[in-house]
Amino acid sequence: MKAVKITDNVYWVGVIDWDLRNFHGYLTQRGSTYNAYLIIDEKITLIDNVKYYLYDEMIERISSVIDPTKIDYIIQNHVEMDHSSSLPMLMKLIPNAKIYTSPNGEKGLRMHYKQDWNFHAVQSGEKLSLGKRSIQFVLTPMVHWPDNMVSWCEEDKILFSNDAFGQHIASSERFDDEFPANIVLEEARKYYANIVLPYGKQVQSVLKTASTLDIKTICPSHGLIWKKHIPEIINEYVKWSSNQAEEKAVIIYDTMWKSTEKMAQAIREAFEQINIPVHMSNLQCNHISDIMTELITAKYICVGSPTLNNNILPTVSAFLTYMKGLAPKDRYGLAFGSYGWGGQSIGIVDNILKECGFTTMDMIRLQYIPTTEQLNEITQQLIPQIKEIM
Ligand code: FEO
Repeated sequence: MKAVKITDNVYWVGVIDWDLRNFHGYLTQRGSTYNAYLIIDEKITLIDNVKYYLYDEMIERISSVIDPTKIDYIIQNHVEMDHSSSLPMLMKLIPNAKIYTSPNGEKGLRMHYKQDWNFHAVQSGEKLSLGKRSIQFVLTPMVHWPDNMVSWCEEDKILFSNDAFGQHIASSERFDDEFPANIVLEEARKYYANIVLPYGKQVQSVLKTASTLDIKTICPSHGLIWKKHIPEIINEYVKWSSNQAEEKAVIIYDTMWKSTEKMAQAIREAFEQINIPVHMSNLQCNHISDIMTELITAKYICVGSPTLNNNILPTVSAFLTYMKGLAPKDRYGLAFGSYGWGGQSIGIVDNILKECGFTTMDMIRLQYIPTTEQLNEITQQLIPQIKEIM
């Protein structure tokens, strides 16, 4: 396994996790990579590292360029263990290497690994000379942990962005111009929706800094390296971080005896009759992380659950908990569902949508099996409400 050259003396030495399918609840159907980068200069520098169980692969790639014991500096842009859990093994190999990280990075690494390594906590804007080139650090707290920072190499025009601009894709291709652009952008969207979404304000401040740089390459810590599609991904981040919703509806539901499903279809009909695109997400066959990708720009979020034991179905509960944590903003919510006698589920969903900060539309609840007339009524009563919002 070999390193991949990015520019003269800058290499990708990361690893490919072909088998990864679950990243703390996020369905990673295309696997992922943990990207580490090696800079050969007067000071040999490694930027980030990889999940511990792929340490040997990283060392093999570094060894294809240089003896790993010659590494002088480690730049640790982020503490999370997908980028740091090789450190205990690596530091046995290079115990005198200096670790450059943010103040919260030092704190986090000490708490994770209980080691008194040779840390240097950097300030935002601080520059580190490696010889012919330098690295400037920009602290980016809460994109998406308190310790995050990015590293900028002015001489090579490379932004080492860590989690920002990442995508969970395992591939033998390394650069975005070698891979179908629609897939890279789709996976970047999924990554943003499931990891970065709560931190829009912080992302905007990173984008402000990025706009002052003449970036030729973005090296994220997951997936493909951006070279060709930098303007596109920056534009998407601008849109996502500002919660720009479109005239689009996502209808998320589970159903016991198909009555709530029939209601979901009647709601779909209302949106379609006024030419608003709709995405249907039955929770029995859609993963919550894929639903987040769909709703990241949807203005209307409709959630349906029948009543089970005076409550909502567990699938709906899991989805609402997940969505609430990711905190999409400035949306319209609609609760609906069928019930037998109690009918509590619809009010429970409505309350959670309100807790999410959504403006809620009139709840829709029907007892037992809806008739065709009742379904038509749902459609016809909903249309004027939507038109008022549009
Ligand atoms: Fe890819 Fe926050 O770790």
